[in-house]
Amino acid sequence: MQNSIIESRDLNLVSAELDLLHAEICRAAEKPLAEARALPAQAFTDQAHFVWERETILKRQWLSIAHVSQLKNPGDYVNLELLGERLSVVNSGDGVIKVLSRVCAHRGMDVMPPEYGHESEGNCHQYRCPYHHWVYGIDGKLKGAPLMKEHQEVASKSLQLFEFNSAVWQGFVFINFSGDAQAIDEQFSGLDKYLSRWQIADLTMVGDIAWDCPFNWKVLVENFMEPYHHVGAHHTLFQPIMPAQGCWTDEEGEHFQVCHLPLSEPLQQKVKGGEPQLLSFMPMPALVESDFLEWTVYLAAPSTLLFVAADRVYWYRLEPISAERMQIRTTMLVHPDSANAENYPQTLADEIELMRKFHLEDMEMCGAVQSGLASAAYRPGPLNPLEQPIWLFQRYLARQIKRAKGA
Ligand code: FES
Ligand SMILES: [Fe+2]
Repeated sequence: MQNSIIESRDLNLVSAELDLLHAEICRAAEKPLAEARALPAQAFTDQAHFVWERETILKRQWLSIAHVSQLKNPGDYVNLELLGERLSVVNSGDGVIKVLSRVCAHRGMDVMPPEYGHESEGNCHQYRCPYHHWVYGIDGKLKGAPLMKEHQEVASKSLQLFEFNSAVWQGFVFINFSGDAQAIDEQFSGLDKYLSRWQIADLTMVGDIAWDCPFNWKVLVENFMEPYHHVGAHHTLFQPIMPAQGCWTDEEGEHFQVCHLPLSEPLQQKVKGGEPQLLSFMPMPALVESDFLEWTVYLAAPSTLLFVAADRVYWYRLEPISAERMQIRTTMLVHPDSANAENYPQTLADEIELMRKFHLEDMEMCGAVQSGLASAAYRPGPLNPLEQPIWLFQRYLARQIKRAKGA
């Protein structure tokens, strides 16, 4: 009895503190851009707030988890663990992609445990749970259970792996855990006019690097979206070719944002003179000249990040784990005909190395930022106008807080 009283008092405290933090986030987001500041540290360090975000934002919205090029043939699968759920994204045949839970319908074992040697990507013709060998088809339906032929539920084949709400948009498979998110086509419709010429569904994933990240998922979103750090973190890799001072942020979408990173003036002149620049792979066939003059970063909120150039798309798959930890995959997609180029293997190796290199620069910044956020010395500092995407993200978070409160 004593314990339960203490627990409930603690919970109230947590909830009161969360309310204060949420009020602070909303106040920060109401400031005009010229007065915008970074968010309070607890927005990135507090585990109770992370749990709130997980349940209220991440599980309620659309999260990208695979690209269709990973799932071309029936039985192709991508396994991942996201927000505490073990998932299998699978081509179930007849062009249907499903997001299945790997939790066995018998007693809850993972039907494809990595601990049992299963790869995170591959092809399977069925799922066989290692515990008691219940077998499921690639559509998730139970096909058989040893020594239980006579059991009514097994015989009727009514049991199956749980299927999560999913959708394919712009070539990516998304999951919505809560099952009640707005239709994805509506939510991100404002991005179609930017992305459609890339025909991302036709691209092939050619690079995929896994990272263990000692920082909050929003630290990465902010880092990815703001181009101000080209002057520092990427002063040799990006600043000369996409100078921060030329970058600009587009219209505010309710669920997305777009930041343009124009090439340097000399590079743009070359493009306009008929010499496309910075192309290592085949450019996407449907592009127009202006598409060659810049790279562009996109956030399809809350956590889908795309970095798009004329000849490639970088897609980051985020897997938030706790307030101070996440895993990500940095991937690269190119037009499949790029592989016909004579020097393709070397070009690809060089480009994957470049992807590793620039992300390493970001990793170092983000890891050290997280340490700074945990310091007693941290105070939210003023934002540069080039950090407008961070301010827009604050406004997105404030909208989510208000939605959750029913305001
Ligand atoms: S838990 Fe999967 S077969 Fe028993
Ligand atoms: Fe960066």
